[in-house]
Amino acid sequence: MKALILSGGKGTRLRPLTYTGAKQLVPVANKPILWYGIEAIVRAGITDIGIIISPETGEEIQKKTGDGSRFGAKITYIHQDSPDGLAHAVKIAQPFLTDSPFVMYLGDNLIAEDLDLYLQDFKEKQLDALILLRKVSNPTAFGVAKINEKGEVLELIEKPKNPPSNLALVGIYFFSSAIHEVINHLKPSARGELEITDAIQSLIENKKPVSAQELKNWWLDTGKKDDLLEANRIILDTNLTADYKYEITDNSQIIGRVKIGKNTTIINSTIRGPVIIGDNCHLENCFIGPYSSIADNVHLSEIDLEHSVILKSAEVKGIEQRIVDSVIGQRAKIHFVPKRPKALSFMIGDDSQIELT
Ligand code: TTP
Repeated sequence: MKALILSGGKGTRLRPLTYTGAKQLVPVANKPILWYGIEAIVRAGITDIGIIISPETGEEIQKKTGDGSRFGAKITYIHQDSPDGLAHAVKIAQPFLTDSPFVMYLGDNLIAEDLDLYLQDFKEKQLDALILLRKVSNPTAFGVAKINEKGEVLELIEKPKNPPSNLALVGIYFFSSAIHEVINHLKPSARGELEITDAIQSLIENKKPVSAQELKNWWLDTGKKDDLLEANRIILDTNLTADYKYEITDNSQIIGRVKIGKNTTIINSTIRGPVIIGDNCHLENCFIGPYSSIADNVHLSEIDLEHSVILKSAEVKGIEQRIVDSVIGQRAKIHFVPKRPKALSFMIGDDSQIELT
């Protein structure tokens, strides 16, 4: 059994963060999203992993993630010249996958459950495809499955106007080598991509065994800001254990589950967990509220922050209002806004969003 993680793509939905970096490396509780997938795959006993990368962000992913030894795995990087679809990624990975069955994992997806039970089901039933489904309230925005009472998949429909169910396709699939044959005959869809839903549909039409399992727990597609914040909240809630060697020498207060990295200084501040703070940060006169993740080398002073993610080397100073539900990109700087400014002076990049209320 092998694994194929898709970590190419365009990442348009997380712009402007993804202009300068890979969306799969955006951290959730200070760990790249992609690494959660790798760890889940290794926990299921699969250590031969191929990762699809794009020309724009591939080098960064490769440099950060390495050859797999840190996860106890062997990683092979596979270059996809342009994001021509999920089935296209499988097609170019054929020399890596050969005739092995494999789990395909979209690099920006996160699920609560381990993969073992699904893997076992896939093997025991000798399926050609096992897809994972999750009930959603807005099925028109997803690939949706029509299944019968035995869990067999009858039809898959991409973003249906009249959804046959509220069961959306989660970005984790198990395939036998039969998928390659159908992908080799696939034609690009209306949006010009080789669609994995079309490939699975062909398996169904060829009477191959295709089954589905419904996820009972949460699933997040972190390609969007709100899902990213939600993933951060859930991971901090469920996975974070308090860990800091910080000695309180002034009137700072650290309450609840808080993890603080090396060489971080905290002066005259209150941190109320669950909160994670990276290495080499400086926090002064701050209140950091629950569900906040602060990456390495971040400088914060005179701010009140909650339910937010602050990426590496960002600097936020002197904001009177509480900052909530925010994602602040790497090296971003937000500095002192006086109560009644006479004038504001900006240098703001494309697609930025600033609300002064
Ligand atoms: P998507 O989120 O469907 O596509 P995208 O990355 O282009 O993102 P956006 O909608 O924000 O523009 O992709 C799901 C995952 O699969 C993601 O990790 C990127 C990866 N992917 C590839 O590796 N190759 C591809 O050809 C495509 C379409 C996606």
